[in-house]
Amino acid sequence: PPPTDSRWLGTPIGELRRMPDCGSPLLPLNDVPNKHTVMIRTDRLQAGDVPVPYPSTFKDAWDDIHVKMPCSPNSLFPVGDQKVLKRWDLIQESLNTKFYSSDDVKNAILKYNAAHARKWDFTALHMYCNKVLEPDAVEHLLQSLLPAMVQLALKVPELCTKPIPLLKEGTNQSITMSQEQLASLLANAFFCTFPRRNSKKSEYYNYPEINFSRLFEGPCPRKIEKLKTLLCYFKYVTQQRPMGLVTFTRKCLEHPPNWKCSQTALTKLHVTCEGTIEDNGHGMLQVDFANRFVGGGVTGSGLVQEEIRFLINPELIASRLFTEALEHNEVLIITGTEQYSTYKGYADSYLWSGNHQDKTPRDDWQRRCTEIVAMDALKFRNFLDQFQPEKINRELNKAYCGFSRPGTRGQNLSAVATGNWGCGVFGGDARLKALLQVLAASEAGRDVAYFTFGDSDLMMDVYSMHLFLTERDVSVGAVYRLLGQYYRSVCQNCLTRRPKISLYSFIYHEVESGFI
Ligand code: AR6
Repeated sequence: PPPTDSRWLGTPIGELRRMPDCGSPLLPLNDVPNKHTVMIRTDRLQAGDVPVPYPSTFKDAWDDIHVKMPCSPNSLFPVGDQKVLKRWDLIQESLNTKFYSSDDVKNAILKYNAAHARKWDFTALHMYCNKVLEPDAVEHLLQSLLPAMVQLALKVPELCTKPIPLLKEGTNQSITMSQEQLASLLANAFFCTFPRRNSKKSEYYNYPEINFSRLFEGPCPRKIEKLKTLLCYFKYVTQQRPMGLVTFTRKCLEHPPNWKCSQTALTKLHVTCEGTIEDNGHGMLQVDFANRFVGGGVTGSGLVQEEIRFLINPELIASRLFTEALEHNEVLIITGTEQYSTYKGYADSYLWSGNHQDKTPRDDWQRRCTEIVAMDALKFRNFLDQFQPEKINRELNKAYCGFSRPGTRGQNLSAVATGNWGCGVFGGDARLKALLQVLAASEAGRDVAYFTFGDSDLMMDVYSMHLFLTERDVSVGAVYRLLGQYYRSVCQNCLTRRPKISLYSFIYHEVESGFI
């Protein structure tokens, strides 16, 4: 047995593949209609230059397959007597004023969101300005940072000239845009300018919330820390124009593997109780423990793994603008976002702890080599439910959808950096989920770096199970069949909340008795 004070077990992390070292050369970046929307001039893409938007002037698409833009001439604002104004004119006029207090910011935002004037609450913003910041810092915020963010937001018709497609349910589609375009979209989100996005009953009911109105709401200290983190990002992107690109890919799994018959061997595992996915998984495929509405509660009150990742890498938040809720067989892959902040703590103890200089190398498309996959686990209220075969299939297929890259050779695939996916807010069992993720990664031909987030017992258990299975050449299919047997012989007739025999002891017993 390994020494009890080990901080990691299994394959040394240095032996797992990372990008950019393991990657194959990229094909030239090209717009492919209905498949890959590229919002910049690919012929002028060059390291060290700010990408040039394409086309050169704003093209509007006010329809149900594109994002309805705040600057669209079709976005109208009723002003009584059956008269209407162009909402963008009103937005420009309202935001292009001097801010002397947080009330001015609130009033500006409410001018073009008049229908919500009674409901929206700006307590967090007021507290941040009046209680948290020193007077000098308030002055800087109101007179320098917010006006620069306004300019960035108002530049959206010059920057985001091509209609942004909605990444709808059941489609395989990508969007590549510049970090500068993303910054402008996010500045618009901050000032709540996106039309038709303020009501759950609207046409965007199946999309995440994008306007930041709920970020300003209520007296909860979490909101203050969120504001600090996001303003750190805006400070950076208003001081220097960001240079790179980011790609968002919606991926739908059409043909799930035949798990039962799979003869695939388990791949390598590194498991550690120290470190995090974002700090120690650089260059690997990093898992976002997502909500089906990507970003979960990032603009509201949520503050666990996914929300934290979206706060420190705020370009991820832009995915909420165009990503319809994920179905069971879908994931969203985001390549190229940058980390702008560091943090301490978690959930209620979360604190913004300063700015971060991201030195991750860029690929040939000028994207940071940071690949994140948003995959939502199922939420379980009853412990036993997760062992049902259809739930197991769903989680395996979701993870496989996130990990597999058809057409890419195994040696070019980075390891997966993951951890207790679905095992916090969503109530899953970490030992089951670790095994399911190992199966999915193995089937996809990738190794796994598993971060147990401080849990050394879990580290030991997952390591021992993986070692036991690999030493005996137990295949993905054989483990899958054992999961089915566990359900039928232990879970199905179980009358207590938790089964008496744990999944791992069942597997040890069955394999050792030669039942596979
Ligand atoms: N690196 C590695 N492991 C981590 C990290 C990290 N940075 N942060 C947390 N963990 P949770 P879920 C571990 O609850 O259950 C959000 O609102 C830690 O052990 O975020 O899938 C989403 O939007 C933690 O308990 O994921 C969804 O609505 C565990 O990962 C919902 O939560 C699970 O983190 C998803 O909940």
